[in-house]
Amino acid sequence: MAHMNEAEVMKTCGEQGIRQMVAAFYEKIWDDPLIGPMYPEDDRAGSEERLAEFLLFRLGASTRYLETRGNPRLRMRHVTFKIGIAERDRWLELMTCAMVETGIPAAAREFLDPFFAQVADFMRNQGDG
Ligand code: HEM
Repeated sequence: MAHMNEAEVMKTCGEQGIRQMVAAFYEKIWDDPLIGPMYPEDDRAGSEERLAEFLLFRLGASTRYLETRGNPRLRMRHVTFKIGIAERDRWLELMTCAMVETGIPAAAREFLDPFFAQVADFMRNQGDG
């Protein structure tokens, strides 16, 4: 199905699919020499939970993120990390690997790929490409 919306992405992937994708992504984050060190070592489950809940919120499947973290204001929450082109590209590379590994369907990728690319570029606070 071309041009899926949020509800169709959720129907296709399921909450479990999104959680598995995020878990696979973080498995790569912890070992990554460039962006891994930015993430808190002592709260890995928390980091995973925050990204999973944000995505479920963004995909219209849950309001738990809002209830526990409030308005996402993601750019503000990333200003303390140095995010340039290399960091942005690494994040996207690891997420792409995670989506492939966990079998996110191609039709859902058509929604998720540009979404991740846009948000990741918006997080950039170094360099102007
Ligand atoms: C561009 C490269 C990016 C880097 C280097 C980066 C790095 C980080 C780091 C170090 C954290 C703190 C970890 C934690 O919560 O424990 C974080 C949090 C978070 N990131 Fe990113 N991030 C990037 C892009 C993105 C993108 C593209 C998204 C969403 C599509 C995203 C969503 C989040 C969310 C939801 C949180 C938790 C916010 C909160 O509630 O505190 N990040 N990120």
